[in-house]
Amino acid sequence: MKNINPTQTYAWNQLRNHFLDIKAIHIKDLFFMDKYRFKKNSIVFQDFMIVDFSKNRITKQTLQLLLELARECFLEEAIQDMFAGKLINATENRAVLHTALRNTSDKSITVNHINIMAEINKELEKIKIFSNLVIQGRWKGYTGKSISDIVNVGIGGSYLGPYMVTEALRAYKNHLNVHYISNIDGTDVTEVLRKINLETTIFLIASKSFSTDETLSNANYLKHWCVLKTNNPQYLENHFFALCDNAHLAVKFGIKYENIFKFWDWVGGRFSLWSSSGLSIALSIGFKNFKLLLNGAHAMDQHFLHSKLSQNIPVILALVSIWYTNFFHTETEAIFPYDAYMHALPEYLQQSVMESNGKSVDRNGCLVGWKTSPIIWGQSGTNGQHSFFQLLHQGTFLVPCDFIIPVISHNSVNNHHEKLLSNFLAQTRSLAFGSNYASEKKGFLNYRTEYPNLVHKLCSGNQPTNSIMLKKITPYSLGSLLALYEHKVFTQGVILNIFSFDQWGVELGKSFAEKIYKNIEKEISHESYDSSTLGLLNIYKAWRSR
Ligand code: F6P
Repeated sequence: MKNINPTQTYAWNQLRNHFLDIKAIHIKDLFFMDKYRFKKNSIVFQDFMIVDFSKNRITKQTLQLLLELARECFLEEAIQDMFAGKLINATENRAVLHTALRNTSDKSITVNHINIMAEINKELEKIKIFSNLVIQGRWKGYTGKSISDIVNVGIGGSYLGPYMVTEALRAYKNHLNVHYISNIDGTDVTEVLRKINLETTIFLIASKSFSTDETLSNANYLKHWCVLKTNNPQYLENHFFALCDNAHLAVKFGIKYENIFKFWDWVGGRFSLWSSSGLSIALSIGFKNFKLLLNGAHAMDQHFLHSKLSQNIPVILALVSIWYTNFFHTETEAIFPYDAYMHALPEYLQQSVMESNGKSVDRNGCLVGWKTSPIIWGQSGTNGQHSFFQLLHQGTFLVPCDFIIPVISHNSVNNHHEKLLSNFLAQTRSLAFGSNYASEKKGFLNYRTEYPNLVHKLCSGNQPTNSIMLKKITPYSLGSLLALYEHKVFTQGVILNIFSFDQWGVELGKSFAEKIYKNIEKEISHESYDSSTLGLLNIYKAWRSR
């Protein structure tokens, strides 16, 4: 992978000038000038997804320059490098091969001269056999009863991906109840324990490193609780499983070697739902559906790998995002799934995008002089319309948004879905075009004089959106959608010249937490902490002791 400073490219300079020409142009004028704008600025993927990026503040020239930027940053070569297993996660000296987990072709993929497909397929087979046993009631708990509840204990990528997918695919769910414990907040574990019967529950300890404090603290608590409550020292044998890249630590914890589902160091935590880290997904929707999820992602991988840049959906969305962040100086991007099952998508994308690209040192080790990751936020459905959408329509921020909706709902109720779709279309339309009276050729000042009462109702529009319409949310289409976002993140990282696959920033907080925890019960010397941390700690101790 080449380390190009994007701002030193010819295209970036051209984009700077181009921005001055385009910044005042209104989206409504772009549509007015070209009646084929939608057709030219939307891409259909297979027969179930359309990505419409026409309601953006871009012209043909913007796209050409952005594509030129991608070429100057050697994006195509970087894509090849990732899929070929080159060590592109250089700060951790690792390949990045979550795409291999969903490789359904016969193609072999090698890491350090070893074909990893054999291992991947072996692990997939293990997931298949185990999930079938549990779902069919043939895996028994310590009293001989079938399993009814699954508890996934994990945080970050070992939680957000599996949780988001099991929620998004609730329509495919079987009889098993799936629970997630992620936080070190005792409420998390307590509330789940209230809902389950230990005789019929299995625990999946999901941690790539098998050393994350939140996960291990919860796992240890559960281990002791279960052995105590069941009065059965062998409880772990049939009830505890590890999903990890560190079998040694899992065995030390007390998990049987056969109960360990492996994944590998070339699978980043936030890209791990496709691996055995996604066992809760396979258990919840069945292995067949899990495989369809992988197949859908593989289809998008092939699109990303083989489509020319100008027709490449993840590439286009990444470039448009870079355009706003770096030239319009936007700071956030919003994700609005119009599907209640997809409610956890914004939360999942927050980790995917911000943990990957929230960096300020480039691949040359220099401080970046450009913007990297936007802040991701969002919410599902029309709920947002009745709260913060006001700011999108009339506030002072420019917020590029992704609107996502299925054409066919899993729950057909009266004409609800037609109304939901109408809202979806109405929002993207009004964000782009503004109020009707705003489209008249009158400036704001004229309005103020002529229509003093209307001025507060004026919506100027020109707020950019992408619309992603899926035929239906299925395991396959969801797989494609998630892979699309993964590759968008990758593309942005390549062009912005940062390392997207490490997360050293989160380590600092972890090490401080460790230090504070060790000192919490001891006398703390004044030199160790700043006055705020010390002050709060002292209040904590004082209030706890009363
Ligand atoms: O918070 C950082 C992080 O390393 C994430 O990248 C990761 O998804 C999460 O912690 C959990 O890590 P693990 O799966 O090793 O427990």
